Amino acid sequence: VTITIPVVSTSPLSFYYGSPDPDAFPTSELLRAMEHTLEHHVPAALLYGPEQGPALLLEEICGKVAREEGLSLSSEQVFISAGASQALDIVCRLWARPGDVVLVGAPTYHEALALLRDYPIRLESVPLDDEGIDAQKLESTLLRLSHSGARVAFLYAIPTFQNPSGVTMTLGRRKDIIALARQHGLWLVEDDVYRDLCFEGTVPPSLFELGDGESVLRLGSFSKILAPGLRLGWVMAEPSAIARLAGAGLRLSAGGANPFAAYVVAEFCRAGHLEQHVQKLVNIYRARRDMVLDLLASTMPSNVTWSTPQGGFHVWLTLPETLYASQVAQAALQNHVRFLPGDAFFVDGNATHNIRLPFSYLQPEDIDRGLHLLARIIRSHS
Ligand SMILES: Cc1ncc(COP(=O)(O)O)c(C=O)c1O
Repeated sequence: VTITIPVVSTSPLSFYYGSPDPDAFPTSELLRAMEHTLEHHVPAALLYGPEQGPALLLEEICGKVAREEGLSLSSEQVFISAGASQALDIVCRLWARPGDVVLVGAPTYHEALALLRDYPIRLESVPLDDEGIDAQKLESTLLRLSHSGARVAFLYAIPTFQNPSGVTMTLGRRKDIIALARQHGLWLVEDDVYRDLCFEGTVPPSLFELGDGESVLRLGSFSKILAPGLRLGWVMAEPSAIARLAGAGLRLSAGGANPFAAYVVAEFCRAGHLEQHVQKLVNIYRARRDMVLDLLASTMPSNVTWSTPQGGFHVWLTLPETLYASQVAQAALQNHVRFLPGDAFFVDGNATHNIRLPFSYLQPEDIDRGLHLLARIIRSHS
């Protein structure tokens, strides 16, 4: 006799991760693309692949940016990686030398900080305001570092629908950053993984476009617009930088990143599914963003403020100075809801008054429950 003991889930409701909505994965279209790959692209899709990635996917990415942004790229300007994270890792390995400084925004994506901390480099941050990275502070930081003899390997920036702040860098600020980069011979690593998830208006041109493709490595990913389990992303850069990435020891040993997934995704795109799917995601995430903004407006006390992201996955909440995010997160956890305090997104990890609110993963009823609890906690501590 088998006795089944029902498992009662005790895991807290989590506002911790900025993951895509698993209910939206296009499984039947992926299954068809997978069958097509096995029927038409074996053995290539199951062998070690070309270091830069399969030509079919490189062409799909060139076609995508030509249609959507009017950019005319050749396949020598694209490199396939196992996600934006792996691209950043390879860039760090190849562009930074021990002791170099890597500049980041304050705040910035916390797992990028974790990745960069794997290297013997020094992290320095430049504050963000509601127009993106502060160009004047960037300039003074670059001058100070240059006077002290430090070498800056690159600036890592997330100009569009930034994680965690939700801020999109304005066109003016983008031009200022490009001008400064040119003046100081600074490489820019532009993490652009949220560009396609635009809820209204238009996204300003990328740093890559504004900089005419020079000294900018623009990272893209299928994680947010298709599925992170595919581990597939890309880099756009000048041909010599792409050749440098493709010549990395990792690529020489392993070949191109995830050839099977790359063929499947190339077929998914060729069949016209990606654009339809992105449109579906935009509608889902826009509704959740609206829901979060409405809930915040109706529940939060007047001394709490938040960003209004025009795309992406995150709203950034600012508490009054008297209230620490870690304190609020602790109280929420006692009520089985997990929030990530803003401290994680700063190089110095100082206690902050911010909480990141990802709205992509949770279902509307959970968002409602979590934010009502958050508002109750903040009110009771205020
Ligand atoms: C700004 C940013 N870059 C990169 C990533 C990770 O991308 P990938 O899954 O392509 O490695 C994330 C995921 O949260 C992100 O928010």
